[in-house]
Amino acid sequence: MCGIVGYIGPRQAYPVVIKGLKRLEYRGYDSAGIALLNQQQLNVYKKKGKVADLEDSIVATSDLGGHIAIGHTRWATHGEPSDRNSHPHVSKSGQLAMIHNGIIENYAPIKEELLQKGYEFKSDTDTEVLLNFIEEIRVKNECSLEEALRIALKRIVGAYCILLVDVNDPDTILAARKGSPLVIGIGKDEHFLASDASPIIEYTKEVVYVNDYQIAIVKRDELVLKNLGNEKETPFITKLDMELAAIEKGGYDHFMLKEIHEQPATIADCLRGRLQVEHSHLKLAGVENNLDKLLAAKRFIMVACGTSWHAGLVAEYLIEELCRIPVEVEYASEFRYRNPIIEPGDVIIAISQSGETADTLVALENAKEKGAFIFGVVNSVGSSIARLSHAGAYTHSGPEIGVASTKAFTGQLAVLTMMALKIAQAKGTIDEARFDQLLGELAAVPDKVAAILKDSSNIERIAAKYKDASDFLFLGRGYNFPVALEGALKLKEISYIHAEGYPAAEMKHGPIALVDEHLPVVFVATRDRFYEKIVSNVQEIKARKGKVICIASEGDRVIPGMADDTIFVPDADELIGPMISVVPLQLLSYFVGVLKGYDVDKPRNLAKSVTVE
Ligand code: AGP
Ligand code: GLU
Repeated sequence: MCGIVGYIGPRQAYPVVIKGLKRLEYRGYDSAGIALLNQQQLNVYKKKGKVADLEDSIVATSDLGGHIAIGHTRWATHGEPSDRNSHPHVSKSGQLAMIHNGIIENYAPIKEELLQKGYEFKSDTDTEVLLNFIEEIRVKNECSLEEALRIALKRIVGAYCILLVDVNDPDTILAARKGSPLVIGIGKDEHFLASDASPIIEYTKEVVYVNDYQIAIVKRDELVLKNLGNEKETPFITKLDMELAAIEKGGYDHFMLKEIHEQPATIADCLRGRLQVEHSHLKLAGVENNLDKLLAAKRFIMVACGTSWHAGLVAEYLIEELCRIPVEVEYASEFRYRNPIIEPGDVIIAISQSGETADTLVALENAKEKGAFIFGVVNSVGSSIARLSHAGAYTHSGPEIGVASTKAFTGQLAVLTMMALKIAQAKGTIDEARFDQLLGELAAVPDKVAAILKDSSNIERIAAKYKDASDFLFLGRGYNFPVALEGALKLKEISYIHAEGYPAAEMKHGPIALVDEHLPVVFVATRDRFYEKIVSNVQEIKARKGKVICIASEGDRVIPGMADDTIFVPDADELIGPMISVVPLQLLSYFVGVLKGYDVDKPRNLAKSVTVE
């Protein structure tokens, strides 16, 4: 979690870093802080709350000079969100300032060691412990800060991206990473450091992605990368393929709304160059080049978290149906800790928007060590999961800033559907006519999503009607069951209303006890092979006086007669349906959140990229 920004160069560092923090704020917003080095003077400003609160707390007399600065937006792990737990932290001597993204798992014994040596701590964070540990090593070994950092990093357990400055060396930022992301932008006599590229793109498109266990020694005109053995490593410079407009709101009130509305374009981008309906052709290089491994696999294991896990569930239905390959869908956090049976040849499909989710990343590292073949379905180009995968397919959804995932989900579904089709074709488990039909259905998705987005007034009306409910139930069957789960997750995240997603048929085995005249129940009840069954489930809820909101296929005359409220979506094959039926649920949660007055782009307690386990 958390956003990290650093600058060294000829510009005034403060505005660059503050602007960068605003861009990264979606990653964590418990507090914000900045340390500026002005000659040999260290000025630290930090504040609980958002970056705007930090700016407000800076007064006219504050010294904001200096050409080197580091800044942080926090997602608290150790110690409550407060001014004193905010980063940057300053070492005991007052000479070092540091920001950190991640968790130092063995901080407690190190803290104990330092307490015995007379260190005192101003915060409850693991970060301050690491900082003073580095200082202690420097003093004890009479070595350089770089050497002290190296020694400290070899002793700590956990995940980190850190930026470190020293008042006695105001021409250097030291950086290091393991498990938490770090990108360095290369300008003319200047360098930009950040957790992702969004604070960098307006200055330069040339970047270096720092790898795990690398230390970066960053000066105005020089970037040196070393491993923890003090050997130099060549920085690999890549060009960013991203425009500034992609990370701005573009006239929408919120990123979430912008991203929901981008879906016709992002799904089309995902399909572009891959889907050739007129030639009955599907091009997916990552799959084509690895068909031997994919077809030889006894099973596929989907590994993901949150919304990406829901995409994995849809993929389970798709791949089992079309390819007849057994699929397991695993929460990354559970998968990695339960000593799963992984054999060489197993195929792991890693699904992640950010490509930085710690639980997913570590689960993949473990599986890779055991010989599994990793296929990444990732949005963020160049991210850790993308780089760790043996092969993959990007979702090409563009930067997703709203904490609630929307366009990344439909992008994941588009890629996973194409994968299933491609593998089924190669395996001979799909006939030509069905293949062509599904290609056509896929190609039609952007227009169908656009049709839903054209007028969302009905959804806004429904949101206003039910916004004060304390609980919601989301029900679906088959391909729409994961959609129900996703609808419930979106509502929880954005509106803080308790919501549960359930398979509609499973409802009668327990959750039906919750139903009374106050409970809104959202059915994803589009026309598919379960339609009659779900109509019966709707009746069961109505018989118990529940309030029923249905997502139904256009032209359906039965459902509106039973439901309290109906939202129509264009008809689609059930395999393709989730990409369409999820859209009204995204809008429903968006409107409920906005009507309740919440910050939908930065819901409480959450962060966009969960880089801690
Ligand atoms: C969804 O709205 C989330 N905020 C969250 O569940 C997210 O999908 C999850 O953290 C996984 O992230 P990833 O796709 O970047 O790996
Ligand atoms: N563990 C550190 C803290 O709680 C860093 C958390 C973060 O990544 O923001 O302050």
